[in-house]
Amino acid sequence: MLLLLCALSDLCGKCFSMEGGVRMNAKRRPILAGNWKMNMTATQARELASKLVPLVSAVKDRDIVLGPPFTSIASVAEIIKGTNIGLSAQNLHWEDKGAFTGEISAEMLLDLGCRYVIIGHSERRQYFSETDDTVNKKVKQALKKGLLPILCVGETLAEREAGKLNEIISRQVTGGLKDISAGDMEKVVIAYEPVWAIGTGKTATPEQAQAVHAYIRSRIAAGDAAVAAALRILYGGSVKAANAAQLFDKPDIDGGLIGGASLVAEEFMAICRAAERR
Ligand code: 13P
Repeated sequence: MLLLLCALSDLCGKCFSMEGGVRMNAKRRPILAGNWKMNMTATQARELASKLVPLVSAVKDRDIVLGPPFTSIASVAEIIKGTNIGLSAQNLHWEDKGAFTGEISAEMLLDLGCRYVIIGHSERRQYFSETDDTVNKKVKQALKKGLLPILCVGETLAEREAGKLNEIISRQVTGGLKDISAGDMEKVVIAYEPVWAIGTGKTATPEQAQAVHAYIRSRIAAGDAAVAAALRILYGGSVKAANAAQLFDKPDIDGGLIGGASLVAEEFMAICRAAERR
């Protein structure tokens, strides 16, 4: 697969790191996205967003995104209006509208100012039975409506230890992105989040993360090398200020999807700063 990546990318003149991945590329603008999960009332969200705005206002070369829960989106939108901070939801439904009690549509999110939507987070796969098929429907709906999907993939510890890492990642990437055109792929972001590293304080080493990011890029490159070279792949799983720079230094890691550490303004700011291009 890697050979195929190299062959395809050589044809389109992309450069490579010694590790085999496509070198971190000025065209791949880093994204630092905070996934607030089921935290922050609307009042608390307003406070956190208000603290963050001045802390990250000078950041111009990276996309900074906040992902509050649905009930706090409107209050965060009000605070970040006109700033360099973008807004994400944590889920959406694949239908336009109708009798789907408790669900939220793309149009509702767009109306509140969302530009991104996190799809297929492992917590949704684990606790809410999301499958590659429903994830794929959601990715398609987001793209159809003009939201940028952040597609989450990642293996459990048991899967990694059973030697199934590549199989799981490949299945989730292929399944989640089934029938997505090359044009639409320009709007897709992938987040690699090893399940064993989420909320555990146990971060993947930069080398472990880089290896999976390079693998994901190689899977995409097998279909279209140019799409793969431009695709932004974020790492998520116990990212904090203390480990962010080493992770973001790797050639195929284009930023982070940050959970717990994004709930503390100074910590999130430090992570955003760590993504500065060297
Ligand atoms: P933590 O950063 O809390 O480990 O969460 C990662 C995550 O799941 C982001 O989506």
